[in-house]
Amino acid sequence: MNSFTYSYPVKVYFGEKAAKNLAAELTNAGPNVMLAYGGGSIKKNGVYDELIGILKDAGKTVTEFTGIMSNPTYAKVQEGAVLAKENNIDFILAVGGGSVIDCCKIISAQAKLDKDIWELEYTDHKQPTEFIPMGAVVTAFGTGAEMNNGAVITNEEKILKSALWGAFYSFAILDPAYTMTMPMKQVISGAFDSLSHSMETYMGSPREVNLSDEINEATQRNIIRNIRATLKDPQDIQARSELIWAAAMAENGILKIGKATDFQCHMLEHQLGAYTDCNHGQGLAVLHPVLYRHMMPEANHQFARLATEVWGIDPAGKSEAELAEAFVDALIAFIREIGLPTTFAEMNISADTDFKAIADSTVLTGGCAKKFIRDELLEVLLECR
Ligand code: NZQ
Ligand code: ZN
Repeated sequence: MNSFTYSYPVKVYFGEKAAKNLAAELTNAGPNVMLAYGGGSIKKNGVYDELIGILKDAGKTVTEFTGIMSNPTYAKVQEGAVLAKENNIDFILAVGGGSVIDCCKIISAQAKLDKDIWELEYTDHKQPTEFIPMGAVVTAFGTGAEMNNGAVITNEEKILKSALWGAFYSFAILDPAYTMTMPMKQVISGAFDSLSHSMETYMGSPREVNLSDEINEATQRNIIRNIRATLKDPQDIQARSELIWAAAMAENGILKIGKATDFQCHMLEHQLGAYTDCNHGQGLAVLHPVLYRHMMPEANHQFARLATEVWGIDPAGKSEAELAEAFVDALIAFIREIGLPTTFAEMNISADTDFKAIADSTVLTGGCAKKFIRDELLEVLLECR
């Protein structure tokens, strides 16, 4: 295991009626609050009314920032930062899924900066140091974005979907009841994203199993079991609760302790998103098995362990290579079972998409068992069509 320091800044309020803790948290916040959300699902399911009531009772002046889209754009970040500056915002309450939560992380930094944050991070290689404090209310789970300070932002001018580093949330409210109105497609693609985060962490280095990996195996088994339970009974709030916490677990640093992560699949999917604006979890579902076949034989040792410890495949009489194959077969069968796509065509991604440009702009990661070159990533993309 690598050396590490562990401490975590995000306080989590988990469970039904967790928003009752919001009033106490707001006593620490200044008077001007930005309430940020997406396209309006929170107005339909009552979450907006509940939160606005708490904000008003706390005597806050509320500025609303609405219309944060899936795969949030850099332009939307800038719009939010201008609004925050104009209204002297003291605190941001982000209400939504990964897109709203990510967008606000960067608004909180950009509003305190004169310089363009993309230039600061990617040209000057510096990170912001001042932020507007924030709280998150999770209404769509999967990304675990509420637990980390990385934001995935689409820069439409540069055709890049990249990580920017912002603030950590002071607190996150995870109430399973708030997620019950999520469309089932989003529930499944979100939960698959959590499984992907766990796998991408597991597949990093060192490659010999350690405590973080064993907790990770349990997290993966839990996600697989609870996706099945949720599909069987969408009203199963226990299964939903497990998935929400598993999503947070995959991104709260615990599974990453002592590891350098892989995340090559994510880097590829993010650029696919930059070019196609596709759903993140669905993109991962198509890419993962194809990319994993290209990671053989370098990754076989870890794949074989996933076969036995996560997917329950009997190792008797099987070589490491056969177990690795069995793992990828089980992953594909699961993706089909839960109704996720296995080709770009099923996602309506055109065969004419500029896959070469996607491969050429994808970040190559250091933790991946295979050191990819971009030509091979192009092969992966073409095989996904
Ligand atoms: O916009 P509204 O109307 O709220 O609708 C949203 C949106 O259409 C809807 N929704 C959310 N809560 C709902 C609901 N609908 C009904 N009832 C509710 N309770 O769900 C849709 C999708 O929301 P979105 O936030 O886009 O999804 P997700 O949570 O999957 O976030 C995706 C974004 O997160 C990034 C992705 O790349 C993508 O941009 N990621 C962020 C990560 C991070 N910061 O750690 C890690 C991930 O790997 C990922 O890259
Ligand atoms: Zn993800």
